Amino acid sequence: MSVIALKTEIPGPNSRALMARREAAVARGPYNATPIFVKEGRGATLVDVDGNRLIDFAGGIGCLNVGHANESVVRAATGQLQSFTHGCFHVTPYESYVSLAERMNALVPGDFPKKTLFVNSGAEAVENAVKVARAATGRPAVLAFEDGFHGRTLLAMSLTSKVHPYKAGFGPFAPEIYRAPYGYCYRCSYNLAYPACGLHCVDVLEDVFRRYVEAKQVAAVIAEPVLGEGGFVVPPRDWLPRLRELTARHGILLIADEVQTGFGRTGKQWAVEHSGVVPDILIAAKSIAGGLPLASITGRADVMDAAGVGGLGSTFGGNPVSVAAAHAVLDELGTGQLFARAGGIGRAVQARVARWLERFPILGDVRGLGAMWGLELVRDPATREPAKDETTALAKACYERGLVTITAGTYGNVVRTLMPLVITDDELAEGLDVLEAALAALGR
Ligand SMILES: Cc1ncc(COP(=O)(O)O)c(C=O)c1O
Repeated sequence: MSVIALKTEIPGPNSRALMARREAAVARGPYNATPIFVKEGRGATLVDVDGNRLIDFAGGIGCLNVGHANESVVRAATGQLQSFTHGCFHVTPYESYVSLAERMNALVPGDFPKKTLFVNSGAEAVENAVKVARAATGRPAVLAFEDGFHGRTLLAMSLTSKVHPYKAGFGPFAPEIYRAPYGYCYRCSYNLAYPACGLHCVDVLEDVFRRYVEAKQVAAVIAEPVLGEGGFVVPPRDWLPRLRELTARHGILLIADEVQTGFGRTGKQWAVEHSGVVPDILIAAKSIAGGLPLASITGRADVMDAAGVGGLGSTFGGNPVSVAAAHAVLDELGTGQLFARAGGIGRAVQARVARWLERFPILGDVRGLGAMWGLELVRDPATREPAKDETTALAKACYERGLVTITAGTYGNVVRTLMPLVITDDELAEGLDVLEAALAALGR
């Protein structure tokens, strides 16, 4: 078992001094998963302002699949900065935006003409996906899932499930949003077990259409192929295909929110590829531009074109520096090596975690797809009472030992892995050793 050699205790004196300034100067709303201030990042490691080298299992919340300061991304962004930094696509368009849209149209599943729009963030992508879905169908309602997360702007927040801290105090919310349980088998809303349940959680949508909203009024269903913030929940393999069937039957558009799952995280370009489902609209963000702000909405050409000229866009949306970075990311992913690596990371995590399950009863459920693994902590395996405080303590024990992790879940009781896919075998083993030591330190 390796131990990460640290120069100071964590947080070190420089981080502590900066945290005092942060608390005085910055709104308390943006949470900090760790009290560590970063100075440099390379690949899957960070150096903090006290000179400590840390292993990064959080990847800037999944934005760094190609690694911190990826050389091709830095080269592409720097080259673009020296050429022109901004012109606004609405004023003087540029070729790189169009060619990136062409690449996205080719990459997103679906044997039909597609078009793409670029914006700045995942939430903005969600907003625009709903706008085009409403414009294309003439229907007002949107159906989202319990435990789903879609962002913090008004419409995205309204689609998001978790109340604290995302919604409490921020109403009134956007209207015409309906919700149903996700395929979260460990916490099945109907106390059923898969596969005997026959995917009752999808069938129940017919009941939603009877009890809450007419199917003909529903423009779109928005779903994460694997829940991200909601706790890294991997639904049964046939959950998304069944949802696709149901939406098609009612003329409802399916929006796949691949903001967290996309760009290789699950071992494929898109998580929907695991089930072969073809959504009408697919949105991406996070790792799309190697850490620079960019998001995309790609969909059926007729759906995307339902919004009139001037109805979509933003000043910075698809800014040329982020677009150049995204081209570099796609070049890198195009080799397929990082997809294979995501699978390798997942297998390594799974092998370790399998041993932990026997040793640490606090691990109620572990699940994953590719390099996207979640460890759900419970006080009692029988009652499945969420172990939120213990999960917070685990994350703290990790960063104090030099491993950056983040938590997730409606109950705040899941540790999730979002390490850059360029992580080396040694770094991965080091990080898992720390996680194991931190679990042992919980004494449960
Ligand atoms: C699935 C999903 N959708 C949307 C968002 C919102 O993205 P952003 O924070 O870039 O607005 C997130 C962010 O975590 C996400 O995980």
